[in-house]
Amino acid sequence: NTGMFTYDPGFTSTASCDSALTFIDGEEGVLLHRGYPIGQLAEHSSFMEVSHLLLNGELPTREELDDFTYTITRHTMLHDQLRGFYQGFRRDAHPMAIMCGVVGALSAFYHDSTDISDPEHRKISSHRLIAKMPTIAAMAFKYSSGQPFLYPDNTLSYTGNFLRMTFGVPAEDYVVHPVIERALDRIFILHADHEQNASTSTVRLAGSSGANPFACIAAGIACLWGPAHGGANEAALNMLHEIGHPDRIPEYLARAKDKDDPFRLMGFGHRVYKNYDPRATVMQKTVREVFEALQVSDPVFDVALQLEEMALNDDYFIEKKLFPNVDFYSGVILSAIGFPTTMFTALFALARTVGWVAQWNEMISDPAQRIGRPRQLYTGPTKRDYVPVSER
Ligand code: SDX
Repeated sequence: NTGMFTYDPGFTSTASCDSALTFIDGEEGVLLHRGYPIGQLAEHSSFMEVSHLLLNGELPTREELDDFTYTITRHTMLHDQLRGFYQGFRRDAHPMAIMCGVVGALSAFYHDSTDISDPEHRKISSHRLIAKMPTIAAMAFKYSSGQPFLYPDNTLSYTGNFLRMTFGVPAEDYVVHPVIERALDRIFILHADHEQNASTSTVRLAGSSGANPFACIAAGIACLWGPAHGGANEAALNMLHEIGHPDRIPEYLARAKDKDDPFRLMGFGHRVYKNYDPRATVMQKTVREVFEALQVSDPVFDVALQLEEMALNDDYFIEKKLFPNVDFYSGVILSAIGFPTTMFTALFALARTVGWVAQWNEMISDPAQRIGRPRQLYTGPTKRDYVPVSER
């Protein structure tokens, strides 16, 4: 149901929908997927298991998980003509530009799964989208680096397959590092779904018109790209590099408070969380695990830790209820794993696809669902008569 309502923070928003997928309590810093706390899922589950949970409502049995993983694995290949689609991009195209284009183009290849009135079509297109995003993202990375594409290796896990397609080369075997695989799989879990955020709302609005699922997910990718949303992980790491040293943190904190300065602390603040983003907690812990396993350190992580410490003890950020969000630490880990900053939001889109697809399915299968049509508060001129140009 949609409508206009005003609530506590004093701003109006369109009510969006009923949903059983994800619950967020912004004041308490709570995030549940089908009732399961994100911290427990990140600690004990896998991205394939969480994907099944979001799509089907329950954690799978071992047999259900094997069946689901097998089905997703069987859809990881791209139609070979789509390889040609990449050739149309400049080598320096942003991976998100490529993903917008290629995912939208899937509509032209999979006519056997675009009839949204057919539950089987919806199921196949959902599985195709989840399965092909790692292949599409990895190919975007390879294309930008001038390396050859690698086909999926279905003997690997979902996340291991993505790592090999991204960092492997035909000239030698690629061994998936278990700590990196587990860390990245956990990062995918943390990004899987997040209630009615901007990109998910975009997918739902596009889907409410009856557009095919590939086009709807392409719309979600476009929205996620913005630095206020999914683009924040790339912007946050760039910010940390720009700060460069803990001694410069006060200068940037001052800029973040200056209303005349457009600078914002990237990776800080949230539309809903007015307490700590529970995903940021897991993310910070994962940074430590990856650094320890890889025996690496990065001065940027020290800058991030000290920036967080200083901001959390700063009256302005306390009063404005600004805490680190999911994007604050993710870039530090992804950079340590070897991804360039331009791939960070593409990874966010890869992981969020299951949430977008699950939300789209929930909306499309609701018999009461109608086309979304947000209204406005009109602030333009009142009615007036036309004036010929000779009299203006
Ligand atoms: C994601 O919706 C989701 O769920 C999104 C997401 C998901 O999983 O889908 O969680 C992913 O998008 C996380 C957010 C990533 N974006 C960033 O990290 C970019 C930096 N953050 C800001 O741009 C900002 O915090 C927003 C866009 C996230 C939220 O902006 P709001 O709604 O304006 O935040 P607010 O109402 O809480 O702001 C309160 C005050 C405002 O000042 P006043 O108008 O009261 O004077 O705090 C200021 C804001 O200007 N403020 C900041 C700030 N964020 C808000 N000041 C400095 N630095 C910041 N980061």
